[in-house]
Amino acid sequence: MTKTIAFANLKGGTGKTTLCVNIAGYLAKNNQGKVLVVDFDPQANATSGLGIDGNTLERSIYDALLNECQGYDGVSIAKIILETEVKNLHLAPSELNLAVLPTLLLDVRNRVSVLDRALEPIKKFYEYILIDVPADSGLFMLNSLRAADRLVVPLDSSIFALEALENFKIYCHDIEQISDRALGKLIIVLNRYVKSRNAKSNKPSPSEEIESQLKTMSHTLFVVPESALVYQAQQAGLPISDYAPTSRLGKAYSAIANYLSMS
Ligand SMILES: Nc1ncnc2c1ncn2[C@@H]1O[C@H](COP(=O)(O)OP(=O)(O)OP(=O)(O)O)[C@@H](O)[C@H]1O
Ligand SMILES: [Mg+2]
Repeated sequence: MTKTIAFANLKGGTGKTTLCVNIAGYLAKNNQGKVLVVDFDPQANATSGLGIDGNTLERSIYDALLNECQGYDGVSIAKIILETEVKNLHLAPSELNLAVLPTLLLDVRNRVSVLDRALEPIKKFYEYILIDVPADSGLFMLNSLRAADRLVVPLDSSIFALEALENFKIYCHDIEQISDRALGKLIIVLNRYVKSRNAKSNKPSPSEEIESQLKTMSHTLFVVPESALVYQAQQAGLPISDYAPTSRLGKAYSAIANYLSMS
């Protein structure tokens, strides 16, 4: 059974893409099966993060989704998937014109399950499908929630992180009510975690404060440290599993990947 995991938050810049790409790297390294990253964001950061130059693309996830919409010409998703530098890690790349998809979908029936339908025929080839979801409350998010069976919610260590989590939970609850479909438990990742510099002062860092509040809630919680390696690996177009596999940062991603393969 393929596990389909969405990396989502209504809030932007929380680390969705970075987590998606790096967890994909460890899943590909530690398992026999193949892993597919679906870049479902017109910004196409997961595409460039995996070393693919968006300017050279002939086709993208945009074409594969048009294929699911009557009246539009597209191609099957199998035709847009690319191999990456990383063994067993494939990519369904994105490009900027994906931004017009919600407008094109307005007249399409079942428009919240376009992504799910597009993925169906290729699921048998993949052990894991990871969806990088843009910060959106419309059709990108709705399609991602419909396609996924697990939800990873990255939080940044800012004062708005808990507010963002509450908002996302309310949003998910509303979607569950409307669609009569359970979204399952959220897997929370507190990203860019920084420890208190002064252990003697007893004053916790913002990350530590947020962490202690998250611990009082009934979520599965992981922490990923702030690290310059993220930037370096992104520049190299490689996940940390290939760039610095045994780093502290790498171990944090690897623990999340292990949890996802066990749960
Ligand atoms: N652990 C980390 N340490 C340091 N920098 C990080 C870490 N994780 C993410 N970043 C940086 O934080 C920024 C936001 O990360 P990312 O692009 O993954 O967020 P996002 O949620 O996908 O954003 P968007 O909502 O725009 O899609 C990037 O510049 C990224 O390099
Ligand atoms: Mg992103």
